[in-house]
Amino acid sequence: MPPVKQPVVSVLLDPDWASGSLVEDVRRGFASHPRALPPKWLYDDQGSELFDEITRLPEYYPFAREHAILTDHADEIVAASGATTLVELGSGTSEKTRILLDAFAATGTLECFAPVDVSESTLRTAAAQISQRYPGVQVEAVVGDFTLHLAHLPRHGRRMVAFLGGTIGNLYHEERAAFLGALADVLEPGDSLLLGTDLVKSADRLIAAYNDERGVTAEFVLNSLRVLNRELGADFDLDGFSYIPFWDAHMERMDLRLRSEMPQRVTIPGADVVLDLASGEEIRVEISTKFRVSKVAAELEAAGLGVTRVWTDDAGDFALTLATKA
Ligand code: AVJ
Repeated sequence: MPPVKQPVVSVLLDPDWASGSLVEDVRRGFASHPRALPPKWLYDDQGSELFDEITRLPEYYPFAREHAILTDHADEIVAASGATTLVELGSGTSEKTRILLDAFAATGTLECFAPVDVSESTLRTAAAQISQRYPGVQVEAVVGDFTLHLAHLPRHGRRMVAFLGGTIGNLYHEERAAFLGALADVLEPGDSLLLGTDLVKSADRLIAAYNDERGVTAEFVLNSLRVLNRELGADFDLDGFSYIPFWDAHMERMDLRLRSEMPQRVTIPGADVVLDLASGEEIRVEISTKFRVSKVAAELEAAGLGVTRVWTDDAGDFALTLATKA
């Protein structure tokens, strides 16, 4: 057994990143129509736990489908990438990445694993576990925001950047173009992106996936108001809101909102905002765009990333696309 290489953790977020960008997001989002809150604020400790619970719900198919694709095709993905460094954006606990890491371990080609996440504690735990389990792989964890810190990703070797879970669907079209363009800019020829995208399917199945019987998703979305109460001293009364998920067939995306059930005034002292909500007024908390394989390819190609291969599950529910910088 090669000796365990100690993980290195670089912290790129400045200590008040969370508070600073939360205030900006609240000011901008609550001034817009519909009122909106960026989804990254859903993932505090409680939100992360609730999301974990979502991934185990029978209705929430994307997790299981992507897991199945990775299990069935990890060897091909590893071979097609030719990578010696694996970067994972928004890695969290790196649970699904272990399937890729196992496939890399079988070929012995991986030198470096670089998980990137905003949660320092989650990253430190994952980094320590992965270093133990894959001795010989240097873990270089980055505490960062993948919309800000792409230029600081580890640069050595041939890289594959994994962006899994369908999280890219949280971004609007212009944000996706900006993100993919910025990523393509920092990649070297031969480096690649492994992108997970949820695919368009019947409205019934989509709505069920975001409106589970047990109400875990509703709790997860409502938790965003709890984050504002705690971080900014806001006085949102969670009982005054109901969860409204709907399928926007024109934009081909799920649109997850909270509806104010009565006229109400909410004060958010930490952001200097007073919010007057009409009865029935909605706050968008998350979009989850669904794709067609051709749309994924077109967006990647527009950013300068050529599609090398696409894998889908048997039901055609989810896709993993490997795209390479020319
Ligand atoms: C983690 C962004 C992929 O969009 O399906 C799940 C988040 N929100 N249920 C998704 C989510 C409500 C999820 N992503």
